[in-house]
Amino acid sequence: MMDAVVKFTSQSQGRDRVFRATQYACALSIYLLRNKPDRKDLVARLKSLENNMSAGRKLLRLGNAANSIVAAKQTMQLSDRLLSLCLTVANINRALYFICDNAVWARNVGLIRSIDKERWSINASRYYLFSLVMNLTRDLYVILQLMQKKGRDNRFKSRMNQHLSDCPEVAEAVIPELDALIFLLLETLRSEPTVALDTVKNICDLFIPLDRLGIYKSSAGVVGFCGLISSLIGILTLARPTLRIKP
Ligand SMILES: *[C@@H]1O[C@H](CO)[C@@H](O)[C@H](O)[C@H]1NC(C)=O
Repeated sequence: MMDAVVKFTSQSQGRDRVFRATQYACALSIYLLRNKPDRKDLVARLKSLENNMSAGRKLLRLGNAANSIVAAKQTMQLSDRLLSLCLTVANINRALYFICDNAVWARNVGLIRSIDKERWSINASRYYLFSLVMNLTRDLYVILQLMQKKGRDNRFKSRMNQHLSDCPEVAEAVIPELDALIFLLLETLRSEPTVALDTVKNICDLFIPLDRLGIYKSSAGVVGFCGLISSLIGILTLARPTLRIKP
């Protein structure tokens, strides 16, 4: 049963990502058209499309809590303790997020009546935010490890010295160490696109719960734009599994 649920939800992942990209593309377009009174019709159609995408995704996501629990069981076995902790906590929070999200959906369609919709929806955003923070901690940890490795690499050291002497304005900079650090960071991200993509995706996703919870209010345009970028990265990593961060 569990296997079947997990299999089905991983198959529906592609559909979910396309729906999500469409949903945020609509949100962004609605924001960009907000001051155009002659486009009222189009905006109304986009709004209805956005709502349909959002509702369709809720249905596709019904099995995702089970999926996240299975993922948590797997990440618990990782030999790197910190990595294991970050990913397991992230997966458990993701499961809790889906449970709340499914409950809100069930309330909306009238399957259950007894829950406070607003509170469950806020809790969903909290778990989602916490899952993202744990994922970003993982990204940061992996980036620091890679930077350390690269910094010890002799071939890289000579390139770094080359870069520093090539840019005389850098030598006069207030903090040349900072420039060296940024160079090291950018070179690391360039040589590990999987980590770079995952980091960008998680940072983009962060704006959605931060806005929802009122911790950092950004505009509907920022939320739409970040959601669209993160969905496109999601589609890319699904289409090209070599670009997906592991584990
Ligand atoms: C956190 O990372 C895992 C593994 O990469 C991923 O499956 C999950 O969707 C991420 N969580 C969120 C909230 O994006």
